[in-house]
Amino acid sequence: MRDHVLKQSRLPARRATLADVDALETLENKAFDGDRLSRRSLRYYVTAETAVLRVMKQDGALAAYSLLAFRRGSKIARLYSIAVDPMWVGCGLGRALLKTCEKDARAHGCAVLRLEVRVDNKRAIALYEKNGYRRFDEIEDYYEDGATAVRMEKTLT
Ligand SMILES: CC(C)(COP(=O)(O)OP(=O)(O)OC[C@H]1O[C@@H](n2cnc3c(N)ncnc32)[C@H](O)[C@@H]1OP(=O)(O)O)[C@@H](O)C(=O)NCCC(=O)NCCS
Repeated sequence: MRDHVLKQSRLPARRATLADVDALETLENKAFDGDRLSRRSLRYYVTAETAVLRVMKQDGALAAYSLLAFRRGSKIARLYSIAVDPMWVGCGLGRALLKTCEKDARAHGCAVLRLEVRVDNKRAIALYEKNGYRRFDEIEDYYEDGATAVRMEKTLT
């Protein structure tokens, strides 16, 4: 099954609908130990005009999602969340979603994509660095457990 995904150039990443909220909540709980998006927030972002929430499905089940947020009047988009089901981690879905987010940000007129990531999240930091993101700041005590956030950004060309 994983080989099947690996051979695909890309699973489609479609816009989420309210029908995806149950699966999004389940994935959020599986992918993160803390600082999770609440069901209420997920519902909000599915329909928010200032956000793009995309889902990737594999055999009918949610395999990954990304949440991109915009601020009116700003050319800086923010990758608010990205998560891959542990079953599919390392199969390239994170990278494919990141690329789609960059395309969405450009289409929205944004010139820069920014994000925060836990300083100890090596896999995520590796994903971002390999895709051209650079560290520009750190915020101490950013997460619920007091962990530091690394701020990263990429100029979209
Ligand atoms: C971070 C996350 C989104 C990455 O998604 P993914 O689908 O596993 O990533 P990909 O398979 O596209 O891999 C992209 C890069 O991640 C890195 N990576 C993948 N597996 C890795 C591993 N076991 N150890 C370290 N880095 C790894 C590599 O740099 C890889 O690039 P490469 O394949 O060119 O070597 C995913 O692991 C995840 O959901 N983690 C839990 C939630 C989370 O931490 N979200 C990010 C919050 S900022």
